[in-house]
Amino acid sequence: MPPSSATLRGALRALLLALVVVLVAALARASHAAAPAPAVGLHGMVVSAERRATEAGVAMLRAGGNAVDAAVATAFALGVTEPYHSGVGGGGFLLLHLADGTDVALDARETAPAAARRDMFVAPGVPEHASQAGPLAVATPGLMAGLALALERWGTLPLATVLAPSIRLADEGFPIGTRHAAILTRWRESGLAARFPETAAIQLPPGAAAGTPIAPGWRLVQKDLAATLRLLARDGPAPFYRGELARAIAGEVQKRGGILAADDLASYQAKLREPLRGRYRGYDVVTFPPPSSGGIALLEMLNILEGFDLAGLGAGSSASLHRVAEAMKLAFADRAAYLGDTDFVAVPVAGLVSKPYADRLRAELLPPRWRRAPWTWGQDEVAIHVAGPGVPPAADSGTTHLSVTDAAGNAVAITQTINLIFGSGITVPGTGIVLNDEMDDFSVAPNQPNAFGLVDTRGMNAVAPDKRPLSSMTPTIVLENGKLRLVTGSPGGPRIISTVLLTILNVLDYKMDVASAVAFPRIHHQWVPDLLYVEPWIPADVLDGLRRRGQHVKVEDSNWSSAQAIGIDPKTGWQLGGSDPRSDGLALGY
Ligand code: DON
Repeated sequence: MPPSSATLRGALRALLLALVVVLVAALARASHAAAPAPAVGLHGMVVSAERRATEAGVAMLRAGGNAVDAAVATAFALGVTEPYHSGVGGGGFLLLHLADGTDVALDARETAPAAARRDMFVAPGVPEHASQAGPLAVATPGLMAGLALALERWGTLPLATVLAPSIRLADEGFPIGTRHAAILTRWRESGLAARFPETAAIQLPPGAAAGTPIAPGWRLVQKDLAATLRLLARDGPAPFYRGELARAIAGEVQKRGGILAADDLASYQAKLREPLRGRYRGYDVVTFPPPSSGGIALLEMLNILEGFDLAGLGAGSSASLHRVAEAMKLAFADRAAYLGDTDFVAVPVAGLVSKPYADRLRAELLPPRWRRAPWTWGQDEVAIHVAGPGVPPAADSGTTHLSVTDAAGNAVAITQTINLIFGSGITVPGTGIVLNDEMDDFSVAPNQPNAFGLVDTRGMNAVAPDKRPLSSMTPTIVLENGKLRLVTGSPGGPRIISTVLLTILNVLDYKMDVASAVAFPRIHHQWVPDLLYVEPWIPADVLDGLRRRGQHVKVEDSNWSSAQAIGIDPKTGWQLGGSDPRSDGLALGY
């Protein structure tokens, strides 16, 4: 008997249902395999290394603000919720891509005080490591000037509105998370908390006994900082650079034997610079010019790597990682030899980022003559004589990054810093302002590594009055046919540069979504010392492959970076956010 049409319909329904179930299961599996999944924003996206700071930015977008409003709100909030990483006592770089296609590089980097001298850290009687903590380490802060300028020129909301979440967070406090607690424990154990009791009195839970880890959940309240931010919300940057805050900052530094003067603050200028541009496999890469070293190094590495079929070699393969490591060595060698503040020294920027130069370097990379560091370099015959290996970077040091996009097509990438954890260690009494130790980003003497093991072979980055110390901060924006494709950046000292490079390669060459791109295992080589740092979860056979190719591999499970990136899906235009799982940040769309 032939089946009735009702039976047929029933069978068809059952088949369809089964198909849907199988499909949903497959999709679920796929999304698990690709975990962590990126956050999705249709109208805007904020990504930062701290949840509440991200939320402060999204609140601005919801209130009708643009990406600049949101970024400035997030930047201020990070100074409150990660007071060990950044704040108005430090500096930063802001890279903007505006909806009308304009790119802006706003340099809010600290400057050396006018009384700074080339040999100030190696002069007789100056304590060791004076560039890393204490009053001489403090450079003139620039972040407040930069954030206020960005908001005034390209934002839409009043300063008081974007500062409101920060004032509340400082005033009412917030329970610290596990990462915050771990950073405080390490800071206390480094001995610096005992050396700066006025900072410890605010930043450490009372009675936290030495030797026991500081527990998450303690409520950090910063009343003085709240009062400072209220003053800035009311009067703008003026009190910071010419008024009562300027007097308090200079007074405290000088009382402790430092050289920062009220005049340094009064003459501080955030600078608008021409962004640095390059092309990589048809994409436009917009990045930061000097005093960042990162933009030049990034373009140099991308130009070298463009000549290799990285996609064909496979993501995370030893063949691919080896080529990337070689490009890192070359760029870091040039960093040491050529880079400094272009307002003070002549840097051959155009040559360093040119394609023919990269072709020459790449030609020298062909096996079997893989480059080894350290070596004698180019016409300048720069021979590096470092007394020993570089100093490994301090764990989870004082820098942070945020990326923001909005529905109109504006994008902002800000990397901001006080350099090492709690910067110089000094909190200006009555203000809650933690002062930076950015003077250590200068070279204190030829070939003497700084806290991140970075060297300066020709004095390009020597201390001079009003000069900006060379930075590795690399806020970067990638465009595809003029449209936003990627917004990224990271903390991590020199690892910032390798982190930004790897994130770009992961997205553009390896087609990873942005969350996978920032999570993927990292490597880092900075030429000196001759070590290829790798994260512990890189497979052993890959490490063998790297060693066979001559790399001196060093596995390290800390000291890595924290990429905060936004990828724009070229098909849907959706704003996808990826916050590095190495920190406990948040990508939040709206
Ligand atoms: O500007 C620089 O290059 C350094 N002050 C950055 C320090 C840093 O990223 C520390 N973070 N982990």
